[in-house]
Parts: sequence; structure tokens; C-alpha cells
Amino acid sequence: MTRRRVAVLISGRGSNMQALIEAARAEDFPAEIALVLSNRPDAAGLERAAAAGLRTETLDHKRFADRGAFERMLDERLRAHEVELVCLAGFMRLLTAGLVDAWRDRMINIHPSLLPAFPGLDTHARALEAGVRFTGCTVHVVRAEMDAGPIIAQAAVPVLPDDDEARLAARVLAAEHRLYPLALRLFATGEARVEGERVVYAPGTRFPAAPALAPLPA
Ligand code: GAR
Repeated sequence: MTRRRVAVLISGRGSNMQALIEAARAEDFPAEIALVLSNRPDAAGLERAAAAGLRTETLDHKRFADRGAFERMLDERLRAHEVELVCLAGFMRLLTAGLVDAWRDRMINIHPSLLPAFPGLDTHARALEAGVRFTGCTVHVVRAEMDAGPIIAQAAVPVLPDDDEARLAARVLAAEHRLYPLALRLFATGEARVEGERVVYAPGTRFPAAPALAPLPA
């Protein structure tokens, strides 16, 4: 089996990155993490990645004259590491159409809501405010519009009556950690692929129906 070379892009603690690192330890996982790159020098995830023996790089966006210069360097670093797929994992920097199109159908993202609901920031506060009974997380193929693009996989998580933002965020995050490796596996093997701006599955794809549905409390 050839393992696809993946770069994980982070900006912070890197818990989703960690979930991908752990999944990629399995011999039959179809991707290897060739690079972890952060746009923030102080991202805690950089240390976690280094501790796992992975190559890390920092590209501090503040050191570039503009978005274009930052993204040209990002593109160069990805190519220098012969990266084939890019996973955004809490990468909190908007990417412009130039870079997104250069990596079209080779860049995926995780977002802590059931898209297209609640794109952007403060997803859990907005879900609580809206009174939805389920929220969750989405792994999707990246397009130039923020938190949009063909959906690879989603996991639903219940919103419970006494939830606050932190409790809900923790429940969704646990689902994220299960969903992202699953989605990357499907995408890296080509079992999930983009067709007409939707993701379709190859016939016979093994896909757990509710991979990350948190159990309801007794
Ligand atoms: C995760 O909840 C991820 O879904 C979210 O940031 C968090 C990063 O946590 N991403 C977005 O909101 C992107 N729009 P992590 O650094 O521990 O993986």
C-alpha cells in the first residue's frame, strides 16, 4: 500500500493533529504525516508533533508583507516536502483562492459544526443560542469560501439541556478526534472523492453510519 504524504496545518493546541498522528501509526493507514506546519510560532501542537518525531515548520504570517507572499511560501514548503494532501486542523488563517485552487481537491478541513450550519467562529455559542438539539462536526474539501466545500463526513452530537459552551465543545471535540482520521482514510484511499461538487463514495466503501455519535447519558 502506498501511503499518501500529508501535511497537517495547525495554529494552536493540535488535538486533531494528534488524532491524525495516532491513526497514522497503524500500518494499514493510507497516509503518513510528512510535515506539521504552524502559522503561529507558539502553537502548542508544534511540541506535540516534535515529540511524535515528526518534521515541523513554522511560517509566521506576521513576517510576510501580505497574504500572497505568505501563501507562496506555504505552497513552496508543501511542495518541498512532496506533500500530496493537506489537512487543516485548527488552522485559523483564511486561505485565498490562489492557494486553495492550487490544492483543489487535495486539501481538507475539520470544522466544529454540522455545516452548512454555523460556519466561522464561536460555533458552540451560536448553536446554544439557536437552540439546536444536535450539532457536531464536519470534514470537508476546502474551497475558497470559508468553511465551505464538498462534505466528506459528519458526526452528530446531541446538545443537552444543561450544556454550556465548554461542555458542548468538549463533546464535539471528542467526535472530531474520531471523525477526522476516518475522513482522511476515506479521502486518501480515493474511496471518497469529489464529483460535481459533492463527495461520492466508491461502491462497497465501509463507512460506519454514526462513527462519533456520543452516547446519551443514562
Ligand atoms: C477544532 O475544534 C477545529 O474543529 C476548529 O478549531 C479547533 C482546533 O482544535 N477549527 C475551526 O474552527 C476551523 N473553522 P485543535 O487545535 O485541538 O485541533
